[in-house]
Amino acid sequence: MLWKKGKRRYVWIVGPLVLKIPKFYLVDLHNALSWVIDGRIFRRVFLDGEGRRMGYLKRFRHVFHFLGRCVFSGVLENVHEVTCYFRARSRRKHKLLATLYLPLILVNVYRRENGVGRLSFDFDDLLSAALGLEGRGEFLTALVRCGHTFDNPENFSFNGDEVKILDYGEKRIKNLLFEYEGAIEKLLRLFVKDSA
Ligand SMILES: Nc1ncnc2c1ncn2[C@@H]1O[C@H](COP(=O)(O)OP(=O)(O)O)[C@@H](O)[C@H]1O
Ligand SMILES: [Mg+2]
Repeated sequence: MLWKKGKRRYVWIVGPLVLKIPKFYLVDLHNALSWVIDGRIFRRVFLDGEGRRMGYLKRFRHVFHFLGRCVFSGVLENVHEVTCYFRARSRRKHKLLATLYLPLILVNVYRRENGVGRLSFDFDDLLSAALGLEGRGEFLTALVRCGHTFDNPENFSFNGDEVKILDYGEKRIKNLLFEYEGAIEKLLRLFVKDSA
């Protein structure tokens, strides 16, 4: 039995199972406080990107998103992993994803994947390799947009045969996966340690 602390979830590894439980504390608390302190909170809630006053509906959406990001980001990540896994499965694009057994949102249950820590990279190397592999700017842009996942090799595993994405709670990862599944797999394999 092992506890791990992810960025937004607590992870409990019990035998062959992994349980992800959302953190509820204010993950973005220091962000929120800095917004209040330097007055940006006013702009974020009342003004749009061009500095115009927003309508009530838009304000409500902003406040809702803001609170969501502060308090419920762990829950949102569990929700995104559920939708990502089932959408990917319906398109037969789920082989890179850690298997989700039970989508309960407040506790998601996954298969324990072996080989965490077998990949090693920093984000810049990953991006240069991605450019060499695909030669297309769109792939690079899509990867950059999923930077919170791809900046940490602990979010991936290699069991000697398959690479897996263990943390797919980022919203944009769905599109990346649907569009570039093969390229992501090739890219990750380049960074498997001791692969000779
Ligand atoms: N299915 C899994 N099998 C084995 N280890 C896992 C699995 N899912 C997550 N982990 C481990 O738990 C850590 C935290 O999980 P993660 O999904 O990244 O949470 P967070 O999104 O909060 O960062 C991962 O970096 C990984 O090392
Ligand atoms: Mg993570």
